[in-house]
Amino acid sequence: MDDRYVLLTGGLGFIGSHTAVELLEAGYSVVIADDLSNSDISVLGRIEAISGRKPVFYQIDVSDRRAVRRVFRAHDISAVIHFAGFKAVGESVSVPVKYYRNNIDSMLSVLEEMDQAGCKRVIFSSSATVYGESNPVPYREDMPAGACSNPYGWTKFMIERILIDKAHAAELKGEDFKATLLRYFNPIGAHPSGLIGEKPNGIPNNLMPYITQVAAGIRPKLSVFGNDYDTPDGTGVRDYIHVVDLAKGHLAALGHIERDESESLNIFNLGTGRGYSVLDVVKAFEKVNGVPVPYEIAPRRAGDLAWSYADASLAEKTLGWKAELGIEEMCRDSWNWQNGPACRGEL
Ligand code: UFG
Repeated sequence: MDDRYVLLTGGLGFIGSHTAVELLEAGYSVVIADDLSNSDISVLGRIEAISGRKPVFYQIDVSDRRAVRRVFRAHDISAVIHFAGFKAVGESVSVPVKYYRNNIDSMLSVLEEMDQAGCKRVIFSSSATVYGESNPVPYREDMPAGACSNPYGWTKFMIERILIDKAHAAELKGEDFKATLLRYFNPIGAHPSGLIGEKPNGIPNNLMPYITQVAAGIRPKLSVFGNDYDTPDGTGVRDYIHVVDLAKGHLAALGHIERDESESLNIFNLGTGRGYSVLDVVKAFEKVNGVPVPYEIAPRRAGDLAWSYADASLAEKTLGWKAELGIEEMCRDSWNWQNGPACRGEL
């Protein structure tokens, strides 16, 4: 396996870095391409510290086809996992063209250079957001995608469409190209070493980083966005998944797409299949870590749904993968990361 590489675009980000660790520990050789626009170079050394193996690194913007070509020329790359992309929902509403340009261009340039190099396997970081506003929970892979509530979500939808069309065209022509779309639910937690985790820029948009900053005294209290939804306690329900489980899901998807039995197009939810409300998460965090998380009820946030959780059975049946870690481990590891020297910038 050592002479063939897996290319991780955006491999120094939250999900990419955890996936790099799992792939290296499983014996894969890894090339990371990341422009550091929303990540830190120190993550590279930490991936090596955890796994005991060093990824090859290129600081490039993967929308730059010539830069991507140099990577493909330098290494025999058997598969690409495409994580790179802008991901802030609110920002995507205020600067949509920036999101469409970056997220779609980067996927297209990677696909064009894969074709040039003869690389035929791609796995894409998609999102449960493509289930939109009209499907009932639990979300199943065969439900119609669309009706996204923001431009970020539409970029995921559009890239899925591009990969669906490309896989279809390859099938018609009898070409051996395969794509896997992984629809992530709500990744939280961090590597138990405390060396890698999620480090948001500025005020966190997502629930768990906000909770850890409140618990650490960085912010005074959590605003709970709405308690009048049609859910058991009135707050929004989500399918939180430990990022280490999510990373292992990529390893399983890579093994699957490398085997003959996989289809030209494969779609999997990566979630636990279980929903927790905002207040469930707050209570679990306080209990596991023994720290208070002061909160207040605030108005609903535009674009939020009451419910989102996966039917996770297809990934279990087809990939032999299921999430193993529970909400306690997710809360423990998020807090461990928040308190560690790596998150505080002391390493
Ligand atoms: N929430 C709060 N207060 C906060 C932050 C969040 O109450 O300060 C609530 C939200 O209203 C929601 C839940 O916590 O009910 C989770 O919110 P997140 O922002 O953590 O996650 P979302 O489900 O809104 O969004 C996530 C990803 C997106 C993805 C989306 C749909 O961040 O990238 O799931 O799959 F598009």
